Amino acid sequence: MPSPAPSPSRDRATPLLFTPLRIRDLTLENRVVVAPMHQYAAVDGFPTDWHIQNYGRYAAGGFGLVIVESTKVDPRGCGTVGDLGIWDDAFVPALKRIADVITLAGSVPAIQLGHSGRKARTARPWEGGRPLKRSDVPQVSDAWWDRWELVAPSAIPADPASPTPRALTTQEMYDLADMWGHAARRAAQAGFKCVEIHGAHGFFIHETLSPLANHRTDEFGRDRHHFTRLVATRVRQNFPSHLPVFCRLSVDDDAGWSPDDSSRLASELKHLGVDVIDCSGGGMTSRPVSSAPVGYGYQVPYAEKLRRETGIMTMAVGVIVECQQAERILQEGKADLIALAREALYNPTWPMDAARKMGLNGFSTVPPAYGWWLSKRAQVLPSLVTSTAGTGVPPSGGGKGEVEGKVAESGRSGQSGVSDRSRNTKL
Ligand SMILES: Cc1cc2nc3c(=O)[nH]c(=O)nc-3n(C[C@H](O)[C@H](O)[C@H](O)COP(=O)(O)O)c2cc1C
Repeated sequence: MPSPAPSPSRDRATPLLFTPLRIRDLTLENRVVVAPMHQYAAVDGFPTDWHIQNYGRYAAGGFGLVIVESTKVDPRGCGTVGDLGIWDDAFVPALKRIADVITLAGSVPAIQLGHSGRKARTARPWEGGRPLKRSDVPQVSDAWWDRWELVAPSAIPADPASPTPRALTTQEMYDLADMWGHAARRAAQAGFKCVEIHGAHGFFIHETLSPLANHRTDEFGRDRHHFTRLVATRVRQNFPSHLPVFCRLSVDDDAGWSPDDSSRLASELKHLGVDVIDCSGGGMTSRPVSSAPVGYGYQVPYAEKLRRETGIMTMAVGVIVECQQAERILQEGKADLIALAREALYNPTWPMDAARKMGLNGFSTVPPAYGWWLSKRAQVLPSLVTSTAGTGVPPSGGGKGEVEGKVAESGRSGQSGVSDRSRNTKL
């Protein structure tokens, strides 16, 4: 059973961010991870060229692990018409293209396995995110629409404006857990070296954990951890034992599921062979968790708590922006891995950039087609100042930060006059 990396001394020469990490038989070259991010760009569940370029650019940017977005184990679990699927063997060759491009660019491919439960069947976020009606999606066939049934642990809508899902029968709950197992097998066949179970953000697994969303009276209601344990068991049985399994949790959802609940569940998952808990939050209600104001590293305390209390490895995520901030989280023993989502969108070569800022030869983190030229330029122009040579360093690795309440709007600069590429997008 793997155990967390020991908390290192502060005077190590190599930053922990760039110290390889071994999990089971998989070695990550560094500890910077691309968090799963839906692209909403799949067609009938199949990846498109968009996915290839999207995942390729992170892999070529030096990330140690690239986690492909929530890919659905069941067609009913698609959040939007653009969700990726893995509910059938037919997806394996197409997903293999994504795994291959990540591997080709020198990173390690991982994939998140999810099901949107009662939050399925919605418009893309930038199209309003509302529940869909048949007439909203003329591009999908009648057969696809009829199959896209809203199902959940209990017949309770996500919010008053959403339709009521059908509660799965006990047998269907077991069948759905099996679907995660089949998905894990397909992920391995497609070349992914790591899978992440999506147990967060108010989606199906999180719904089974929640006292708000799970009113069942069978074994899945009497023991609200039962479904998650079953999924972890099925995934572990179907994914090679030498490769790691992660699980993302909403460690605190501010709606009846607490960090103490997550700590207990993490212990159970550790015994079932889950290697890393990816510590996220919220999603059961539409508002963010009120107990953790959104700011730099606001979810880091979750990763720290679960790591300390259960001994499982943890991944910190949520407004981790600067390399010194990320390094401090690792140095202080609060997490084993650092995941970036929006900052990776902003700077897909973040690891190379961070390595340079930390005094390393960051050009070796990227393929030679990039690194060789950048290295030559640095030799010829040693005083060159790069475009990312900012000096902003956030106040601390955890808790409330100075950007509180502003990150959701994203713009730091608020500049106008830039061209709007969204007008041209085909997605
Ligand atoms: C475009 C986008 C898509 C996302 N899709 C997923 C997803 O597929 N699965 C998931 O667990 N989280 C998803 N998230 C949440 C991120 O993984 C991450 O937890 C969150 O954005 C906070 O990290 P950040 O502050 O570095 O962006 C998504 C976030 C963004 C911005």
